[in-house]
Amino acid sequence: MKILVTGATGNVGRMVVDELLALGVSGIRALTVDPAAAALPAGVEVVRGFVGRPATMPAALAGVERMYLAPHPASAAEVCRLAAEAGVRHIVDMAGAKGEHWQAVEDAVEACGVAYTHLEPGEFMSNADLWAPQIRAGDVVRDAGGDVVNAPVAQEDIAAVAARVLLSPADHVGRSYELTGPEALSRRQKVAAIGRALGRDLEYVELTGDEARSLFTSLMGEYGDWYLDGLAQLAGHPQPAVSTVADLLGRPAMTYEEWARRHSDLFR
Ligand SMILES: NC(=O)c1ccc[n+]([C@@H]2O[C@H](COP(=O)([O-])OP(=O)(O)OC[C@H]3O[C@@H](n4cnc5c(N)ncnc54)[C@H](OP(=O)(O)O)[C@@H]3O)[C@@H](O)[C@H]2O)c1
Repeated sequence: MKILVTGATGNVGRMVVDELLALGVSGIRALTVDPAAAALPAGVEVVRGFVGRPATMPAALAGVERMYLAPHPASAAEVCRLAAEAGVRHIVDMAGAKGEHWQAVEDAVEACGVAYTHLEPGEFMSNADLWAPQIRAGDVVRDAGGDVVNAPVAQEDIAAVAARVLLSPADHVGRSYELTGPEALSRRQKVAAIGRALGRDLEYVELTGDEARSLFTSLMGEYGDWYLDGLAQLAGHPQPAVSTVADLLGRPAMTYEEWARRHSDLFR
């Protein structure tokens, strides 16, 4: 059985490859723009391509039974059509909450007629890398929405769920899985958790609206406003944690504390 992992050096895609290897899968094909630089593990078949360039997909899809689809809304319809044509039997796509800008990915997957499972992660814990430059420079984190609460998920858990579903697709056909971490936390609490992982007391300073807009635009370019609007929406509707990761994996989802300990080098 051949499983294609797209975006194979992406944060999630790379971990999907590792999870599948750890589960003993031998037929992994990894799609990457630069096979030489990708440094994928031995035993993985590496092919050149990118879901954003559908012309590269027919060769990558030949003989593939199941596919992990990284989110690329603009070309998702064409990629899914090619997957159906190539005889792919199950697509596990990773996008985001329904109705957001990733919706085109789920729509394309459903339209192509191949059996599917949607993975819908909330915010990634790794978005904390937004704070990394400030934390590397000192003990003060200037930020917006300090009391906004959500339940971010570890990319490790998204990948573990993807691998589990790829290995037993029949149990998950047509399902949408909202994926969160195990606890809902405010941004202040997340910064404090990173401080504990580093053995430092980090001070959280709330920015004014204009200061926040200027900081987030400098950090995220055109997505700065979008991110701040998302925080404003969350302020009225905190995102609760759901148990999907634990239910599917039979072990607890990674906590923020644990994620911060594992990734503390990001902030040093
Ligand atoms: N951050 C969040 O809170 C959050 C929440 C929900 C969803 N999401 C979505 O999750 C995705 C991030 O997942 P991920 O980090 O695993 O990355 P990804 O978007 O799934 O995959 C990124 C990989 O795609 C390949 N790629 C090749 N050319 C590219 C190009 N021109 N632009 C972008 N990627 C290219 C690269 O891998 P190769 O070099 O191997 O080809 C790259 O490492 C994003 O689409 C994001 O919108 C994020």
